[in-house]
Amino acid sequence: MKVASFLDRFQSQVPADVLAQVAAHTLTVEDELLRQTGSRVPLVQEVGRLTLAGGGKRLRPALVHLAAKATGRPFLAERAARLGAALEMVHMATLIHDDVIDHAATRRGKPTSAAVHGPTASILGGDVLLAKAMAILATDGDLSIIRTVAEAVVEMAEGEVHEVEVRGKPDLDLDDHYRVLRMKTAAFIECCCRVGAKVTGATEPEEEALATYGHHLGLAFQIADDLLDYRGDPAKTGKPLATDFKEGQATLPLIDLWPKLNTAERDKARVWFGNGCTESDLRQVVEWMDERGSFRRTEEIAHGHVASARLALADLPGNRERDLLLMVAEMVVNRDH
Ligand code: IPE
Ligand code: IPE
Ligand code: MG
Ligand code: MG
Repeated sequence: MKVASFLDRFQSQVPADVLAQVAAHTLTVEDELLRQTGSRVPLVQEVGRLTLAGGGKRLRPALVHLAAKATGRPFLAERAARLGAALEMVHMATLIHDDVIDHAATRRGKPTSAAVHGPTASILGGDVLLAKAMAILATDGDLSIIRTVAEAVVEMAEGEVHEVEVRGKPDLDLDDHYRVLRMKTAAFIECCCRVGAKVTGATEPEEEALATYGHHLGLAFQIADDLLDYRGDPAKTGKPLATDFKEGQATLPLIDLWPKLNTAERDKARVWFGNGCTESDLRQVVEWMDERGSFRRTEEIAHGHVASARLALADLPGNRERDLLLMVAEMVVNRDH
């Protein structure tokens, strides 16, 4: 059975039955996603299925399952899988919209919906997925879960818009950048962990522990993604290189680098940033980031969030799924896709 793709690497470290349960959860999620991406409108179906067929790590539904198991409380596996599918659909909608915003031609190694079907069908096809996800939550009927997800979706959408607001600023304030990271990524990953806790009727301290884990996991995850944007292998990430720099989106490596450039270097970088640059200009920027310790500093910050994520789980009863969540925290910063 296939586990969520990012868990493959744990085959030798994690008991087989723990992974088998994640695999069963992933299969149920996958079936639901296939069903939910069907539509009587062919173009809507194509947008959803193209994104689904691209694959992806299925991190968010796996987090719902693992967070639920980490509480040590009983829960209905089918229900957690349906909620996991709803959250993956929100994620899919976000990616479809994000690729319109970022003018990204590839994702998961394949052409994006934006590239194939254009912005109009992509935006509306994404909206359909979002609304269907909300319908799954409404059918489930837990008002606290509906509120949690709706609030996270608002944060995520506001985060994406705020990010566009600060586009073109290479000297972006660190607090402002953190606000973007919290809103666009951490809020939703936190939400997935919270939903996992809620499915089991966890106590408030248990839910808060998992939410804090998700918050820091989300920050570490996005910071790692921003590093991959500069120095990942597109054959592995499935995404084009340097989208952030080309789009004029400052992330931690550039924010760290900026004050370390001299005036002449900064003048050059300002012209390249978001205004069209050659491959050799980009190589120069990456070289500066490497030489001046900006990659190293960014890695340290990501590792700090991994440590905070792991610490947040210290008070949960120790079990094998909690241990796997601890490994997942390490994995998000040591990943190549
Ligand atoms: C991409 O998320 C968007 C970010 C938050 C950086 P993932 O890296 O989880 O995307 P897939 O689902 O595996 O493609
Ligand atoms: C992804 O953001 C979308 C959200 C986190 C909401 P990015 O634009 O930073 O991620 P990729 O690199 O395209 O996946
Ligand atoms: Mg993007
Ligand atoms: Mg983006």
